[in-house]
Amino acid sequence: MADNNIVNFPEGINIGVDYYPEHWDEALWVKDADMMYDAGVKIVRMAEFAWCRLEPEEEKFDFEWLDRAVQLFGERDMYVILCTPTNTPPQWLFEKYPEIVQVDKTGKKIQTGIRGHRCLNSPVYRELSKKIIVKMAERYKDNKSVIGYQIDNELEANHCCCDVCKESFRNWVRKKYGTVQTVNKAYGNNVWSGEYSDFSQVMPPMNENDKWLNPSLNLDFNRYASDSTCDYVAFQSDIIRKISPDKLITTNTWLCANMPDFYDMFNELDIVSFDNYPAITLPKDEETLYSHGFHLDLMRGIKNKNFWIMEQLSGIVGSWTPMSRAIQPGMLKGYSLQAIAHGADAVIHFRWRTAVSGAEMYWQGIIDHSNVPGRRYKEFCELCNKVKEIQGLSTTVCRNKIAILYSSDNEYAFKNQHQAQEMHYFEQMKQWHDAFTCLGLGVDIINQTQNLDDYKIIVSPTMFVENKETTANLYKAADNGAAVILTNRSGERDYNNKCIMEQLPTVYSKLAGIKVTEYDVLPDGMKVAIRDEQNNIIYGKRWCDIIEENDNVEVLARYNEQFYKDAPAVTRNKYGNGEVYYFASVLNRDASIGFAKIMAEEHGLDIVENLPKGVEITYRYGEKKWRFIFNNTEKKQEIVIGKEKITLNPFDMEIEVV
Ligand code: GLA
Ligand code: ZN
Repeated sequence: MADNNIVNFPEGINIGVDYYPEHWDEALWVKDADMMYDAGVKIVRMAEFAWCRLEPEEEKFDFEWLDRAVQLFGERDMYVILCTPTNTPPQWLFEKYPEIVQVDKTGKKIQTGIRGHRCLNSPVYRELSKKIIVKMAERYKDNKSVIGYQIDNELEANHCCCDVCKESFRNWVRKKYGTVQTVNKAYGNNVWSGEYSDFSQVMPPMNENDKWLNPSLNLDFNRYASDSTCDYVAFQSDIIRKISPDKLITTNTWLCANMPDFYDMFNELDIVSFDNYPAITLPKDEETLYSHGFHLDLMRGIKNKNFWIMEQLSGIVGSWTPMSRAIQPGMLKGYSLQAIAHGADAVIHFRWRTAVSGAEMYWQGIIDHSNVPGRRYKEFCELCNKVKEIQGLSTTVCRNKIAILYSSDNEYAFKNQHQAQEMHYFEQMKQWHDAFTCLGLGVDIINQTQNLDDYKIIVSPTMFVENKETTANLYKAADNGAAVILTNRSGERDYNNKCIMEQLPTVYSKLAGIKVTEYDVLPDGMKVAIRDEQNNIIYGKRWCDIIEENDNVEVLARYNEQFYKDAPAVTRNKYGNGEVYYFASVLNRDASIGFAKIMAEEHGLDIVENLPKGVEITYRYGEKKWRFIFNNTEKKQEIVIGKEKITLNPFDMEIEVV
């Protein structure tokens, strides 16, 4: 999948490791490199956080040690990804330029000595960052082993509240709305005397409890915070690209409290890369949706192409939290293969050896503190061998007929105002992802505004904040024959996060063919019985819309208790050539699977009957069709597909050309 003009893009499917040469005595490097070579490592990521070693004093650079490390891996035919070390400016820099420290919501400067605590907008920090990035890019521009760069580390949306950032937020608002009167109207600032008479009064949500602030301001601040981080990514990638137009550029993203908009952030980058730490302790409760297949599909959908794992689970996680259980036999290898099955072309493991100092000394690498290779190293070698056997996968891609739409606005607005206890935007996305997965079907998770023409089933959960393009696309998709799934809390807010003065689901009413007359909000743990057409009792949790259906709308399930007993809970409306399902509540797992099955059968998708829960089937397509069956459970599983019978041990995967 070599891109544009990137030369030296690694062919095939590759396994790698994150390595921190600056943590180890140089005498160890050769042994490490030899061991990596023997195992089959093809990519090594380095220099993340190494600023103090690369520039021990201002303008005194020392790249010689990194040259030696790069050379060592290059000589062993390994590719190197270098990180811009900007996540951790050195202590001298903080001392000399204290203004670069991030300010938190309470107005306090964050203590130095941790990481990621610098203000992305600080002019001095940008200038000093530029210098070290230029040095790095210049130094390795002709080096064939260095194939690309990771920008910074696990960037979050910029929530810094220093004076520079306050001003940058104000400017963002001014640019967007032009006058304070327009802002006042957009935000509904007539409530609580919130009207601005001058832009100087526009402030970021600086309150530990920002839930008391205007949700319109909060949503816009989140959008600004994302734009601000994207601007920082563009600042770094522009520097690198000017010097090294032939090397790939990415940033390692993750799911965190303040996520930037993934689609914007990766727009100018060559590939998506993700830090993948799947569940180590699998939940006992059948209703908990734990599969990282969801996250992997979300990552693939950012650019609709194959992606990389920049950090992959290799052992116990812990340090600032109590340690997790040891990873089960099979997890190290199985979870890496799971990433490949969902479209990863490289899986780089965090980290080669566990740190012996620093705050992360209990976040295990492949090799333990003792430096004695153990069970996990052995499994890592098995993984590398397995990956050698499946190089035919190179250039294959995932392609699915089911899409789930993701919207950063929904995530921001929902987080700001939880609609019910433990009700999360991601939950309903995961619920439908899981339901189709349990039928052996692959799912794409895509930007809400993406073209939907290729999809037969489109799940559009909790479309809370209006986006006119999305709304139009959904009407069009249904009209063209797709099945569209809408759920509770759709059509609630306008683009500025104000309530829409119409009966819910407002902009989706015609599409769904229903109106919500009232709703009930359920505390966590409460279940409301619902009966389906066969009178089976299923249940809803979190939320119950009480709805009336239009004529000709089918009711597929009704509430079986509460004051809304017999009111519709699931409806289906014929719209154009397609149909629109409305889920008034959040259904239990088996019920969701049941409805997913009805839709899949109607749209001619090949489902696998009786697939054990936790077993995932995905495909990659190229000249051949590759099938992956992954047992993401702690039990041995028997899988029957037509006449085939496949037995898989816990976390085992079967990969076959079919
Ligand atoms: C993140 C970071 C790494 C490391 C790991 C483990 O993914 O990117 O530097 O801190 O978590 O904690
Ligand atoms: Zn700042």
